[in-house]
Amino acid sequence: MKIKLKKILVTGGAGFIGSNFIRYMLKKHPDYEIVNLDKLTYCGNPKNLRDIEKNHNYSFIKGDIKDTEVVKEAMKGCDAIVNCAAESHVDRSIKNPNNFVRTNIHGLLTVLRVAKDYNVPRIVQIGTDEVYGSIEKGSFTEKSNLNPGSPYSASKASADLMALSFHTTYKLPAIIMRSSNNFGPYQYPEKIIPLFITNAIEDKKLPVYGDGMNVRDWLFVLDHCSAIDIVLHKGEIGEIYNVAKGDEISNIELTRKILEYVGKSDDLIEFVEDRPGHDRRYSMDASKIRAIGWESKYEFEGALKETVEWYKNNKAWWEPLRKSAEAARLHKSSKTKV
Ligand SMILES: NC(=O)c1ccc[n+]([C@@H]2O[C@H](COP(=O)([O-])OP(=O)(O)OC[C@H]3O[C@@H](n4cnc5c(N)ncnc54)[C@H](O)[C@@H]3O)[C@@H](O)[C@H]2O)c1
Repeated sequence: MKIKLKKILVTGGAGFIGSNFIRYMLKKHPDYEIVNLDKLTYCGNPKNLRDIEKNHNYSFIKGDIKDTEVVKEAMKGCDAIVNCAAESHVDRSIKNPNNFVRTNIHGLLTVLRVAKDYNVPRIVQIGTDEVYGSIEKGSFTEKSNLNPGSPYSASKASADLMALSFHTTYKLPAIIMRSSNNFGPYQYPEKIIPLFITNAIEDKKLPVYGDGMNVRDWLFVLDHCSAIDIVLHKGEIGEIYNVAKGDEISNIELTRKILEYVGKSDDLIEFVEDRPGHDRRYSMDASKIRAIGWESKYEFEGALKETVEWYKNNKAWWEPLRKSAEAARLHKSSKTKV
């Protein structure tokens, strides 16, 4: 059954997926109101939504999902929540897992508790395929065991279980989505695709982990947005939905494609020491979400070319981010040396 919504709270809406989702929803459902609650961490960026910030159906609240009062204020009158707020970078979770536990688990817990008190009719928790861990052959279904390999994916698996436990215990109307790796505009240039595109544009080396044979199943971010839209309107409460397209490619093949599309030579490839605990291959079966009407619209190579063009044409968006990340790195290493 398809439901009609009025006001949606998107947490983490100033990040990569959240900002694309808010833009997508305001266009697709111009009568819906969207509230964006975001702490604006290093990867939350108000510029991601500059084009829609004056839309009368959009409002922004700066705040932390761990802060009960701010979550209460943001959730007032909402009939749905999409939780995109998270610490999302595996490498950062390996260096310092604390924030991952705080935001991805404690933060979600606050959202769930307030949603329970307010009787919000629908809560979609944005999860990841990484909770299943690596698979050599075949694909994970929603019934597969969880086997997270990094502090990031362990925090995301805990979040999924917490949301499901609220459904079982309190009948909280939660739904879990688990998407494969996303790419597209407005992705912070530390993740592999935007990092490699921007490095290639600046003639810097592209650091490929290990032998480069780790395989990922890439999904253009707007395909993820349409999947969230479908689950919000047609998903069954208490269920889990995998979202994947089946565009598997090794990291080294991906790197070569990026270099080709940016117009640079393979000489920029540099193999570096592998990430500890690096999952070899992710793959999910997405027939359950297809059965409720989702289908991907974006073909991988075309969407990757479009993404490369976006980064070429939006240097003003990413150059300051790269400069401040570099300044933070230098500051940290100078402090370590003292
Ligand atoms: N990017 C992917 O490939 C991918 C794939 C599958 C699932 N996911 C999941 O999708 C969600 C969004 O990912 P993303 O790539 O957009 O991440 P992102 O890092 O780009 O954005 C996260 C957003 O959350 C905000 N945030 C962080 N901590 C917060 C807090 N305590 N309170 C309020 N806001 C906070 C940040 O400011 C930022 O705007 C995450 O849960 C991630 O695990 C991402």
